[in-house]
Amino acid sequence: MNQYLNAAVRAAREAGELLRKNFSQPLKVNTEEAHDIKLELDVRSQELITNLLLKEFPDHAILGEEGSTENSATEFEWIIDPIDGTVNYFYGIPHFCISIALREKGKIIVGVIYDPMRDELWSATRGGKAYLNGCAIEASSRMELAEAVVSIGMSKTLEEIEIGLSIFKELLHKARKCRMMGSAALDLAYVATGRYDAYIERSVNWWDIAAGVLLVECAGGKFAIAPSKAAEGKLSVIAWNGKIERELLTKVYP
Ligand code: IPD
Ligand code: CA
Ligand code: CA
Repeated sequence: MNQYLNAAVRAAREAGELLRKNFSQPLKVNTEEAHDIKLELDVRSQELITNLLLKEFPDHAILGEEGSTENSATEFEWIIDPIDGTVNYFYGIPHFCISIALREKGKIIVGVIYDPMRDELWSATRGGKAYLNGCAIEASSRMELAEAVVSIGMSKTLEEIEIGLSIFKELLHKARKCRMMGSAALDLAYVATGRYDAYIERSVNWWDIAAGVLLVECAGGKFAIAPSKAAEGKLSVIAWNGKIERELLTKVYP
């Protein structure tokens, strides 16, 4: 397992270096939509990561936001988000990360998330603890929703935003604070670290959450994933410290 973890850490750090160097520099936009931007650097970061991983594990498959390579002969699939929080990155907001996970036979076995601006690196391997910069971390111990800080993601389409807003509105009244910071992977890493008590988003992709849900689980938290009702083919996710009564969070979750 260590060889996989080490490879993921190396790739995340190298991609982090690339992102740090280009932060606040002029950037090439590949495509632009109402609520989203895709950069040439998204593609370059993924290429860097996949080249490093495939050099070491040439038979493994890749599922990445910027492209995938299938290989039916392997049980191993790397799940990569080369920049999670691209809109933040483009606007010079230093809150984004690289997320790399390895899935074996449908189970996430390695998860690495790297925030290059704060030099924070989270890692976990299935069955072990979750770590931030080498120190073991745990999800928070808060029991009451009234004391909780909950992050709510809203993704990109009008429908996703409407659903996110309804959750936000409901929980704004019930939780201590709600946040929307623009990086699903960091949201999950923050739940694993006890900075947030919960994270809810109704429409994400595997590359947004694969590493983060393993971190949350290894840090003693819980998560639930279901098909999204907001967008076909996407996922609805809730992750929390495992202490707050799930129904209080899931009342607003299918
Ligand atoms: C997005 C971010 C955002 C979340 C969206 C994701 P991207 O990823 O994680 O916080 O709300 O659902 O798509 O496009 O920056 O990689
Ligand atoms: Ca993402
Ligand atoms: Ca991305």
